[in-house]
Amino acid sequence: MSPLRNERHSRRVLLKTGPFFLGSLAIAACGQRFSGASSPATESSAQAQNLPATPACGDDLTPPQTAGPFYRLNSPERTSLVEPGFTGTPIMLTGQVLSTSCQPIAGARLEFWHTNAQGEYDNVGNTFRGSQFTDADGRYQLETIAPGIYPGRTRHIHVRIKSPNQPTDRPALTTQLYFPDEPLNEGDFLYQPELLMSVQDGGDRPQAQFNFVLAGDV
Ligand SMILES: [Fe+2]
Repeated sequence: MSPLRNERHSRRVLLKTGPFFLGSLAIAACGQRFSGASSPATESSAQAQNLPATPACGDDLTPPQTAGPFYRLNSPERTSLVEPGFTGTPIMLTGQVLSTSCQPIAGARLEFWHTNAQGEYDNVGNTFRGSQFTDADGRYQLETIAPGIYPGRTRHIHVRIKSPNQPTDRPALTTQLYFPDEPLNEGDFLYQPELLMSVQDGGDRPQAQFNFVLAGDV
């Protein structure tokens, strides 16, 4: 395990939310660096060597995963998937889309899709499906609920990301996000700890966070 991975797995927070337990979590190391959370020792060291304190996200590429059979084209553009009458634990997912040099990617299109609280996909309409574009700082924000669980999988959110500068011969990043401390994570055939969101208690709505790093300086 790399030092970066060690750092990622050493920063854990406990919380309990609603009908499911979001326990230990991993904070995306790249996000910490990009947000300027460097230590004084690190800063003084960089200054002493007269080196720019430019973070590098290249070692932290977001791994791709299958879209699965439930992806649908042309989901509506919206930042909230919560609709009247739906049950579930509300969550707010935020983060950035970054290049390998940790630069924010503005105008990247993110498509999210996941099940309802009962673990069912809407394969006819667009319930719990939506797309949005990152702002000038590469940021996105998704208001939704914690998906349910369906047979054979742990709890997850699907996402597909395409940069506005994406070369035509390079596919969009398709992957899945996972919740910390889910009992089914370790036995899931697709689960990767690199795709764990960090989740913190936000009162009645947990705050989830994940930064995506796209391959190449797109
Ligand atoms: Fe799925």
